[in-house]
Amino acid sequence: MAKSLRLGVNIDHVATIRNARGGRHPDPVRAAKLAIAAGCDGITAHLREDRRHIRDADMARLKAEIDKPLNFEMAATDDMVAIALKTQPHACCLVPEKREERTTEGGLDAAGQQAALKPVVHKLKHAGIRVSLFIGAQPKQIEAAAALGAPVIEIHTGAWCDALAEGDTAKAEAEWRLIVTGAELAASLGLEVHAGHGLDYATAEEIAALPQIVELNIGHFLIGEAVFEGLAETVKFMRAAMDRGRARARA
Ligand code: PXP
Repeated sequence: MAKSLRLGVNIDHVATIRNARGGRHPDPVRAAKLAIAAGCDGITAHLREDRRHIRDADMARLKAEIDKPLNFEMAATDDMVAIALKTQPHACCLVPEKREERTTEGGLDAAGQQAALKPVVHKLKHAGIRVSLFIGAQPKQIEAAAALGAPVIEIHTGAWCDALAEGDTAKAEAEWRLIVTGAELAASLGLEVHAGHGLDYATAEEIAALPQIVELNIGHFLIGEAVFEGLAETVKFMRAAMDRGRARARA
């Protein structure tokens, strides 16, 4: 029997919706608690340099208020390291970050940025934080992650998911092979293997069959899908609230 597979729920896009209006609704911490009550194993949140979704106060509240592991996604910058050391999350997942990108587009270049990443990995590990590197599944990136002493890698599944969505079966097959062989290589080097980005029900089911992978981190699809799973109920609540109010109206 393969090891159990954890689900980390990324709640960034609850904050995206909140920030579209300002104010406090919807609250990403409330979403995190709901996801935990529904059976997820941890919460992931990405504090981006531009604070476009999760904000510093969200991260502090997540740490204080949730009772499952918090995975703090961040760029490997001095500012973020300082916030992570103050927050003391269970884990930090180091990701590349470009201001202009819509989401984390590629993996971290662990092979090309060994010198810059080494002190960051060291500081976080020294503080008792589990460090994960979000990388493509190319062997040189996996070997570099191991050489850096990161205990965990998260394989970027975005290119595989995009190729499937675009119907490019040859590319999807090539990306899938890369993920399969990458997961095997990483596990053989003693790394804990996670995966994420762009996953939906079908791709999560497929990748769950790889026994080396012990955690999936999923956000955008879940938050989008929650609209469809939840909208009917909230419209009913609103209808009922309006009906109660109207019943009090004088003719
Ligand atoms: N893992 C990492 C490292 C990410 O950067 C992201 C996106 O923020 C995810 C997982 C989740 O990706 P998605 O929102 O597409 O499910």
